[in-house]
Amino acid sequence: MELREILLNRKMVMFGGKGGVGKTSCATSSAIWAAEHGRKTLIISTDPAHSLGDSLDIELPPGDPTPIEGVENLTALEINPKANMSEFEGMTNINPIEEMGLPGMGDMGMFGDLQELSTMNPPGIDEALAFAKVLEFIETDHEYELIIFDTAPTGHTLRFLGLPETLSGWIGKLLKLRLKVGKIFGSIKTFFTRGEEKEDDNSLELLEKLNESIKRAREDLTNPNVNSFVIVMIPEEMAIAETGRLNNQLVKYQIPSSNIIVNQLFPDTQELCDFCQSRRSMQQKHLERVKKIFGENMNKNIIEVPLFKEEIRGNSMLKKMAEQLIN
Ligand SMILES: Nc1ncnc2c1ncn2[C@@H]1O[C@H](COP(=O)(O)OP(=O)(O)OP(=O)(O)O)[C@@H](O)[C@H]1O
Ligand SMILES: [Mg+2]
Repeated sequence: MELREILLNRKMVMFGGKGGVGKTSCATSSAIWAAEHGRKTLIISTDPAHSLGDSLDIELPPGDPTPIEGVENLTALEINPKANMSEFEGMTNINPIEEMGLPGMGDMGMFGDLQELSTMNPPGIDEALAFAKVLEFIETDHEYELIIFDTAPTGHTLRFLGLPETLSGWIGKLLKLRLKVGKIFGSIKTFFTRGEEKEDDNSLELLEKLNESIKRAREDLTNPNVNSFVIVMIPEEMAIAETGRLNNQLVKYQIPSSNIIVNQLFPDTQELCDFCQSRRSMQQKHLERVKKIFGENMNKNIIEVPLFKEEIRGNSMLKKMAEQLIN
């Protein structure tokens, strides 16, 4: 499906790829285009090294959705990692061994789950925070018809996309453990307090809720009627290899993806110097391979975007880029 159709009909569009290839520029120009075509659009940067504000050439206060002056229907948000951390406090401080004052019990068979848990790598906090934002927009009512994600370079984004699976495995373990330990802890407590003291413990409920919202997020991320991932790349050998790997991961996580943007192509003009001319022929060779591998073999749309003389910054350059992206 063409990028135009996706921007007009989907609820989420993610832009991702290698560092520095033009993800932010493509995401921002697409967001402006969609907003100008009447869709109430929010662009969110999930990259901890934000550059959304730079691209739009405005000051974006971290964590605050900011309406973009001069573009009706467009709001931009850079996630504020520090502010979000506090939302997680209390969710992760589940340490039953310590709670029971029984150090060393972790080695015993009864706590096998705990040992298994400790061998599962907890997700990176940057990705978790970005993912929490996605969850928030999936779970709560909001005014936006389209959310565009400007993602971080590939490795980070892949961990982010793998989170629903990692987290539900992780939370599943926590839930099981919590149930087991909760029973033991409960009976010890009843024994000592003779049931007089009653303390509210809703962490089980919280975990179950979190697990449910992760499942729903996963359903949305993998639904081709809801989400689409746009790969941005440059026409170079290494980028082709990396795009292949990224695409494999998208397939693995069942994230729909039908467009690849090949950015920064040297234009076909007489004015090119020898240096640029030889870069152009190198790029054209790789572009042909991209068209064959991802276009013909995988049936994706290949979008060609030229290298501009100017850097892509501010509304008018972003609109110029959108004209190349969407036809
Ligand atoms: N087609 C283009 N023509 C000219 N300059 C471009 C083009 N695409 C991107 N740029 C410039 O390249 C730089 C990197 O672009 P951008 O920030 O969009 O990449 P990115 O993939 O988001 O980078 P990062 O991985 O650091 O987030 C910017 O200065 C941008 O202006
Ligand atoms: Mg960027």
